[in-house]
Amino acid sequence: MDIKALVSQMTLEEKAGLCSGLDSWHTKPVERLGVPSVMVSDGPHGLRKQDQKGDHLGINDSIKAVCMPAACATAASFDRELLGKLGERIGASCQHEEVAVVLGPAVNIKRSPLCGRNFEYFSEDPYLAGELSAAYINGVQSKDVGTSIKHFAANNQEHRRMSSSSNADERTLREIYLAPFETAVKKAQPWTVMCSYNRINGTYASENPWLLTEVLRGEWGFEGYVMSDWGAVSDRVAGVAAGLDLEMPSSGGVNDKKIVEAVRAGKLDEAVVDRACERILAINYRYLENAKPETPWDQEADHELSAQMAAECMVLLKNDGVLPLSKSDDIAFIGEFAEKPRFQGGGSSHINSFKTTSALDAAGELRVTYARGYDAAGDCATDEMIAEAVAAAKAAKAAVVFAGLPDSYESEGYDRTHMALPACQNRLIEAVAAANPNTVVVLHNGSPVEMPWLDQVKGVLEAYLGGQAAGLAAVRLLFGDANPCGHLPETFPKKLADNPSYLFYGGEGDEVDYREGVFVGYRYYDKKEMDVLFPFGYGLSYTTFACSNLRLSAEKITDRDTLTVTVTVKNTGSRAGKAVVQLYVGDKKSTVKRPVRELKGFEKVALAPGESRDVTFTLDKRAFAYWNAALHDWHVESGEFTVEAGQSSRDIEASATVTVESTVQPPHRYTLDSIFMDIMDDPRAMAALQPVLEGINSMFGAGGGGESEVAKAAISEEMALAMLRYMPLRAVISFGGGAVSPEQLEGLLRLING
Ligand code: BGC
Repeated sequence: MDIKALVSQMTLEEKAGLCSGLDSWHTKPVERLGVPSVMVSDGPHGLRKQDQKGDHLGINDSIKAVCMPAACATAASFDRELLGKLGERIGASCQHEEVAVVLGPAVNIKRSPLCGRNFEYFSEDPYLAGELSAAYINGVQSKDVGTSIKHFAANNQEHRRMSSSSNADERTLREIYLAPFETAVKKAQPWTVMCSYNRINGTYASENPWLLTEVLRGEWGFEGYVMSDWGAVSDRVAGVAAGLDLEMPSSGGVNDKKIVEAVRAGKLDEAVVDRACERILAINYRYLENAKPETPWDQEADHELSAQMAAECMVLLKNDGVLPLSKSDDIAFIGEFAEKPRFQGGGSSHINSFKTTSALDAAGELRVTYARGYDAAGDCATDEMIAEAVAAAKAAKAAVVFAGLPDSYESEGYDRTHMALPACQNRLIEAVAAANPNTVVVLHNGSPVEMPWLDQVKGVLEAYLGGQAAGLAAVRLLFGDANPCGHLPETFPKKLADNPSYLFYGGEGDEVDYREGVFVGYRYYDKKEMDVLFPFGYGLSYTTFACSNLRLSAEKITDRDTLTVTVTVKNTGSRAGKAVVQLYVGDKKSTVKRPVRELKGFEKVALAPGESRDVTFTLDKRAFAYWNAALHDWHVESGEFTVEAGQSSRDIEASATVTVESTVQPPHRYTLDSIFMDIMDDPRAMAALQPVLEGINSMFGAGGGGESEVAKAAISEEMALAMLRYMPLRAVISFGGGAVSPEQLEGLLRLING
């Protein structure tokens, strides 16, 4: 299809019309020219295709589909292959259902455990979120179906989500909040990007030229089209100019008219409208020309796949020898979630599952009894319910409490206000644990919870929101038919107040200041040396692993080279299992505040008992860099970096040091207010200063106080040196006693500035 030729035949009204949706889920057709409309649908962990009467909140039912594990769970897989396979299945279901673009993945950073949509997001870590979303996108798009990576950008709370301004410095945005999008664009080129509702430093994402054009297209090379989140448009004309191609769902023609008027009034270049149309049509035809409605969609097969995937995602948090359970023992399943698991979150990602398998369903022939324990929707547990649960627990060898957050506790549209489980469930767990020493808790939640009973139970399995076959996966793991291999994609703090965003999260009115900067999640807890409940990257298995023998391809590199890191991982236990080898990098000494370590590589490795394998990572400049505001670029400071491998951010088993030399000199213009320290620490400037340094030293009495003991005690050598280092250049006039003229000082400054 010659898209340019097609657009050139369209009237201005037709073009403006094409820049907004027909309804909730379709782009507009241009019938006169035979341009069809295409459909977009929510996901991203299943297909939420609404038939008639679409509404983005899902009030009207969508077609029956397969609910796979949500992103909170799939992130815990630390498995690119799994995300790729998930994407392929979603892509195939879209082909079958004639959906051109699935609205996801959602990759916003989990700034706080409170965000209502954390269950849809991957991680507190941008590297993990970026890598996994890229794998998912590549999977979907391999089926000739598009994705819409969302919500671009800095959309980290639901509270006041359509009006709040996420206020952060550029380094924080670049290193944390934009980074997953950047990785996904560079590695997977999503067909579309969905801009977020919120403003960023005061400007709506939907009309932000820096975000939508300069960074997204100019720097990262995005080639598709940008659509708005549903209702995210404020000033449509500013949006078109900024690079927002498609407004969704529609404005009933109101905003289309504004585009036409702006072009007629000379306020908006028609070429900009043409370009938006070209982008939208290029994607639409990319789907249309490769549409395969005959693609089969075997929902039963996807159900089984979702069970397998969920088992790869669930995280074993605690196991004091209680798991796996024996199939010949009597086991009590307690808690309503054993019967009706909470396996997905509420809102636009809600899937109409064609079936679900609960843990009770999955228990089948096993010797399992059941007590309801609590009423999830009613958020209560009567004394009778607890008594019944205690009796069941007492009669069994082990008790498994299926607990978690009810739907009303976390959802799109609002944030949580605390990190606690329902009080009735905590009460139940404590009562059951008191009745049976072999108590295990299985958690169903999209975000961290406090565990006041942790010391009283022998096992904890974090199931997250594992999709419609979550119960099947949980039973396979509990009874040892599968071996847990999920690792936490986020820190579980001991309490909410420990979270770095605690004082600022939610903001004041519409102003949300990201004052913790780059210290999000483990970047903060590690820097503060704080105890956490469970660290980022943590997860147990029924076997054990060890990482050792970390080797570097070089001891010294420049920031233009790559470094190859090899580490050996061994299954040191007696069962087959999968290890997650994590690679962290940290700058030993830097002029800017940096985290102790940051994830820069991970690999999931299947190992037979006793087997060991070498895992290789390649680190490039970006692994060592931070965002330098003055350079307006990624920058590596020369010096030593730690390279660490382990099985969590707090379980580092092997490490080495590499020296990286920078080939870039950040620009520095010195003034008379610049202090000597900065000049002396800059080798180039120091070279210019050297010839006169001795004179200046003596001027400030460097070398310490005078001859007498009293003078020496008053001004030590260290203090004199410190005084000089913190002295501005202009002080040479103040303290020089006329030895240096202002003209001479200006001359020196010119020399230093080169
Ligand atoms: C959500 C998006 C979703 C859209 C369409 C919005 O409210 O923020 O994630 O894709 O609705 O349902």
